[in-house]
Amino acid sequence: MKKLWGGRFREGLDPVAREYSFSLWVDIRLAVYDLKVNLAHAGALEKAGIFSEEEYLRVSDYLELLIAQFEDVEEIPGGDHDDEDIHSRIERLVTEELGELGKRLHTGKSRNDQVITDVRLYVMDECEEILFLLKTLSGVFVDLAEAHLGVPFPGFTHLQTAQPVLLSHHLLVYVEQLLRDQTRFEAVRVAADVCPLGSGALAGNNYGLDRQFIADELGFSKLSTNSMDAVSDRDFMMEFLSAASICMTHISRLSEELILWSSPLTGIVEIGDTFTTGSSIMPQKKNPDIAELARGKAGRVLGNLVALTHVIKALPLTYNRDLQEDKGLLFDSADTLASTLEVFAGMMLTVKFNQVAIDRALANGYCLATELADYLVKKGLPFREAHEITGAVVLSAIERKKTLESLTLEELQAFDERIESDVFECLTVQAALDAKSVYGGTALVRVQEQLDRVKDLLK
Ligand code: ARG
Repeated sequence: MKKLWGGRFREGLDPVAREYSFSLWVDIRLAVYDLKVNLAHAGALEKAGIFSEEEYLRVSDYLELLIAQFEDVEEIPGGDHDDEDIHSRIERLVTEELGELGKRLHTGKSRNDQVITDVRLYVMDECEEILFLLKTLSGVFVDLAEAHLGVPFPGFTHLQTAQPVLLSHHLLVYVEQLLRDQTRFEAVRVAADVCPLGSGALAGNNYGLDRQFIADELGFSKLSTNSMDAVSDRDFMMEFLSAASICMTHISRLSEELILWSSPLTGIVEIGDTFTTGSSIMPQKKNPDIAELARGKAGRVLGNLVALTHVIKALPLTYNRDLQEDKGLLFDSADTLASTLEVFAGMMLTVKFNQVAIDRALANGYCLATELADYLVKKGLPFREAHEITGAVVLSAIERKKTLESLTLEELQAFDERIESDVFECLTVQAALDAKSVYGGTALVRVQEQLDRVKDLLK
């Protein structure tokens, strides 16, 4: 088949240049969207009197047939012809089947407005898919939080034992993150929901096509308002890649914790056999490969955002072929994020917490030191002074190889005579947890409240 643009040329494209510029094997994924866009366009041509009803029906019947073929057939319709991109392939198929009538389908549209209409439809669907996966993974964390309600856990800052928290409080952090991701993908879907078709190459079209009709047919709720902007705008794609990068960053932080906690150094969690791998040389190993891969893939997804931003940053208006580079980055990030969310939902179901290791971590890190300082504040000391005294108590406990709570009253009173026997009521993990009853704190009532709130949001 002739090129879509052959008329002005005496010679064909050099094979190396052809190979360099053709994108069919990337944008083939847009086939069904492109067919639906052609179908809506055919309807607009009929409304404008360019197609008779009979002509419209012949075109639409064939487009419907192609939709079924591209959806179901293993082999991609059209064979191994050297079509430049998916729009060229569909145009060739329609023209081979319908002759003159097929050629007339391309009245009043350009690949520039088609490709971005296709991509917007793809992004809207992809957002729905990711929102579903985000909810599923959030649900797994909610179940874990519920199952471990009341279990104390070491809270860290600087990776040093800081203060006791509830394990559920820690697990619900991931839900908070995923809920924010959800909000971002909902906003991306709204940003993508704008119909550019009718914008032509850049200036609009001469045929008075009913753009509202096209948008309604395709399920868009808004029309683009400037044809030049419509063919050159890729903001919603940068927004998608940005939301994907933030979400992968969350998964990467989670991965880091899973890797650390499943190391024999801490032994706090064990990931199930079905989501860990062995070593070809060291028989004892149980490696957290899925978490490590996700941590690595987060880098790739962030790279895609940076790459797309760089593709766009120096482009003059309107369409430039550079923009063809957008789709590979988009598809790669969407696939990577979707598969990561899916595999994590499965993996988190297999994670078991090791109570002995948790208790050991809680016992060894002087995580009750702040409670002693707060106790002294209750006895009338300014916090700074209480902090200073407690620091000295901790130092002496370290030297005696004792925990704070195992120091005797006399040993404690040597630091400040205001310390009385009621100090021991404060120096327990449970008391430390119960005291954090401020809104958003880690006391059981507050965590239960949090759990109820997120369950409500995920309904
Ligand atoms: N394959 C192109 C892309 O993905 C489609 C638009 C081509 N337009 C053009 N003027 N060459 O961006």
